[in-house]
Amino acid sequence: MEKAAPVAFASAKMRALKEDELFPSTPGKFKIERSHQFHRQYQRCFASSTTIFLWVIFLIALTASFLSFQPFLSSSSRLSSAHSWGGLQWERQVRVSASPRRPSGLTVLVTGAAGFIGSHCSLALRKRGDGIVGLDNFNSYYDPSLKKARRSHLSSHSIFIVDGDINDARLLSKLFDIVPFSHVLHLAAQAGVRYAIENPSSYIHSNIAGLVTLLEAVKSADPQPAFIWASSSSVYGLNDIVPFSESHRTDRPASLYAATKKAGEEITHTYNHIHGLSITGLRFFTVYGPWGRPDMAYFFFTKAILAGKPITIYRGRDGLNLARDFTYIDDIVRGCLAALDTAGKSTGSGGKKRGAAPYRIFNLGNTSPVNVPTLVSILERHLKLKAKKHVIEMPSNGDVPFTHANITLAMAELGYKPTTNIDAGLKKFVKWYISYYGHAARGIFKTNL
Ligand SMILES: NC(=O)c1ccc[n+]([C@@H]2O[C@H](COP(=O)([O-])OP(=O)(O)OC[C@H]3O[C@@H](n4cnc5c(N)ncnc54)[C@H](O)[C@@H]3O)[C@@H](O)[C@H]2O)c1
Ligand SMILES: *[C@@H]1O[C@H](CO)[C@@H](O)[C@H](O)[C@H]1NC(C)=O
Repeated sequence: MEKAAPVAFASAKMRALKEDELFPSTPGKFKIERSHQFHRQYQRCFASSTTIFLWVIFLIALTASFLSFQPFLSSSSRLSSAHSWGGLQWERQVRVSASPRRPSGLTVLVTGAAGFIGSHCSLALRKRGDGIVGLDNFNSYYDPSLKKARRSHLSSHSIFIVDGDINDARLLSKLFDIVPFSHVLHLAAQAGVRYAIENPSSYIHSNIAGLVTLLEAVKSADPQPAFIWASSSSVYGLNDIVPFSESHRTDRPASLYAATKKAGEEITHTYNHIHGLSITGLRFFTVYGPWGRPDMAYFFFTKAILAGKPITIYRGRDGLNLARDFTYIDDIVRGCLAALDTAGKSTGSGGKKRGAAPYRIFNLGNTSPVNVPTLVSILERHLKLKAKKHVIEMPSNGDVPFTHANITLAMAELGYKPTTNIDAGLKKFVKWYISYYGHAARGIFKTNL
């Protein structure tokens, strides 16, 4: 359902190259060869006792010079890091943003706060008087100017977003040192299904390595916060029993993205089991709405229809239409806040748990799947324009043909009840889109689709 534009692909390739430099695909290889070579030299040079003596002197000198240079090396790597944090002014901003404006308000670290769902949740928390600190690395998976615009919107409601990566353990430990967070709402991730074909390591970096770094910091924090995080409906993978229930199989993922989310559910389980972290995993079903993600179909269809460009619609293998259980952002936000409010406490301290802590998983969907032609016709009506449709068979790229949530559990435990249907939700999205991209949205796009 999500079809990326050619221009987006080209720039994504350049991104992939950059990421490849950071995360080589076979990090161990070079070291092994080097150590073989070293081994041969070692045998040659250490033949006599005098050379051993000279080598020892040399090694002592080397170690001494390394130790005296180390402080310089680590401070210079801090300076060259892409993200800047620290200092008195920065700490003051963090503290002010973190303090609740109501008695017994929550203090929440929101990761991915410059993202679609994270920005909406942060605003909703602030509106009811909770304290929030955002964390986001503003990566360029999609246009970072949209993330920056969300940040200025949040900052006008006095919410501060720290510019940093969830893989930065020093930053995390600093944040937990200066703020006694009651909750972590973890929404930072490499989202999207198809981008894994170009850049698989970005999914491992954010959804696995980053998750573990964050959980380590949460585990060691005092007080130990409750952890609420975004899993995905994609964990149902090849499951074809509908509607999808939390008790269904999730061991047959159809994409790397889904596999990393499934891994997250199991990784969080071990932190719950060993360290007493209170865990709530939320399986979101195709979230859409104002300030949404440009890599999702409803968003780039809107852009293309306004620009008079054709859109590609995927048809399922057997001629069936693809369908998604589209869920409006405000409904998801209410579900997230209810998950924060009902999360039991973590029970660990100093890395040990004192008793069992809750481990919960909920579907957050809308329960009425919408197929692509219907989605397009609703957009056409709200945009008052006809789409140029190009229908092709779906390639196998990780997208599943159908999603449909059973939300009985979330209704019972969270009081979750979606209230916005696709027509009302897309109307609000289109209104936002036109006001955000302005009249430029009509007809004068020079790029893609
Ligand atoms: N939107 C949906 O339909 C949907 C469906 C299922 C699950 N989810 C999940 O919900 C969460 C939020 O999704 P979204 O739609 O708001 O996506 P998004 O891409 O708009 O938001 C994610 C944010 O996290 C940030 N981020 C990514 N990696 C990071 C890292 N290593 N360190 C710090 N920040 C990082 C990004 O810059 C981005 O702003 C994600 O975990 C996503 O997988 C979303
Ligand atoms: C939905 O899930 C609940 C359990 O959470 C189950 O009892 C119910 O039968 C499911 N409904 C359908 C229609 O599958």
